[in-house]
Amino acid sequence: MNNVNITILGLGTVGVGVVNILQRNQQLIQQRTGCQITICAAAVNDIAKVRACNTEQIQITDDAASVLARADIVVELIGGITIAYDLVMQALQQGKHVVTANKALIAEHGQSLLNCANDNKVMLEFEAAVAGGIPIVKALRESYIANEMLEIKGIINGTTNYILSKMHKQAWSFADALREAQQLGFAEADPTFDIEGTDAAHKLAIMAALVFNMPLPLVDFYCEGITKIAQQDIQYASELGYVVKHLAIAKVAHQNIELRVHPALVAKKSTLAHIDDAMNAVQVTGDAVGKSLLSGVGAGAEPTASAVVADIAAIAKRAFVDKVSSASCQPSPIQRTIIDNFESANYLRLQLIDKPGVLATISQILGEHSISIHSILQQQAAKHDGQVPVVIVTQPVLEQRMQQAVVAIQALFAVSDDLIRIRLES
Ligand code: HSE
Repeated sequence: MNNVNITILGLGTVGVGVVNILQRNQQLIQQRTGCQITICAAAVNDIAKVRACNTEQIQITDDAASVLARADIVVELIGGITIAYDLVMQALQQGKHVVTANKALIAEHGQSLLNCANDNKVMLEFEAAVAGGIPIVKALRESYIANEMLEIKGIINGTTNYILSKMHKQAWSFADALREAQQLGFAEADPTFDIEGTDAAHKLAIMAALVFNMPLPLVDFYCEGITKIAQQDIQYASELGYVVKHLAIAKVAHQNIELRVHPALVAKKSTLAHIDDAMNAVQVTGDAVGKSLLSGVGAGAEPTASAVVADIAAIAKRAFVDKVSSASCQPSPIQRTIIDNFESANYLRLQLIDKPGVLATISQILGEHSISIHSILQQQAAKHDGQVPVVIVTQPVLEQRMQQAVVAIQALFAVSDDLIRIRLES
């Protein structure tokens, strides 16, 4: 039996999950890999902290660099970039295989880390960095390898999906739903990363790099979170036959790649509309396979730890049983243009003064920008302030043209709330 030592950097939510799974399913993993995986050390910030796992046989230290040498595989679960980058680089340079769940680290520094892994003939795996328990990294790298990929469209942030689901189904406020998501352990330490779309953008960048063979980091693509979505948008969307979801989209468009992260109205009957709570789903479209959907729990201790342990087991088997000595081959990345002038229909909610000619002027501005109106909704009478919410749904239009029209409308009419705009996704 091969003994494989691992050092875990960070015993937070996911780290505790990894310890518990490795201990609980030790025999199973041993049978499946031919390796006995031993957690020899764990580096933490606070040694005295009580943790929901058994650490009796594990050396606990607050000096992470000092326990790298003990490992065959270093498991980075610290999060953040600076410290994690330094430790992962050190581990790779010392010839250690590395597993990480850190999407920010891979999205920002994946290329240099993979190059370093290759130079040192070790493996760097990051299945848990994208969509938690869903094996999407492996699927994109291996299972769909025969396809020319056309599109990836996903709900890849559990926190935002949980918040939007609760706003739809329980009519909760945004703040209540966020608080609950944090208590359930889905949210990042800094929830801004979830609710402003950064977490989803990191995951999308990693998937796009894998599928379209692009070098990381991928920057400067459109990223919007869910903080502006109000309960009334949820209700209007529902009346119009839609559900609000936070989507991450990578699409081939005229030899270039369209990348974007934003809230979107999706038809109630669509598959993605039924991915609820903290569930994630990635819909992949390839030229051979057609459309296929992978869904599962995208956040939380054990679903994420399941992916981390899968990477540990895969490395253990490849390096110590099959004795594949070097890192998996990294094809040379291709520079492609990321385009942001995509086409979509739009939901606009405006707070307008209820007086003759206002809607006519808005129609005129839209007309001047060659934007056709699909429907208009004005159900409430004006309140004491003389304002009324009006919802306009446009026909599909290019992003830049819509942005210009929004600026023109805001200059004339936005009287209190910002104009709320949500793209429609077919
Ligand atoms: N905060 C992330 C989410 C955790 O909500 O999806 C997994 O990346």
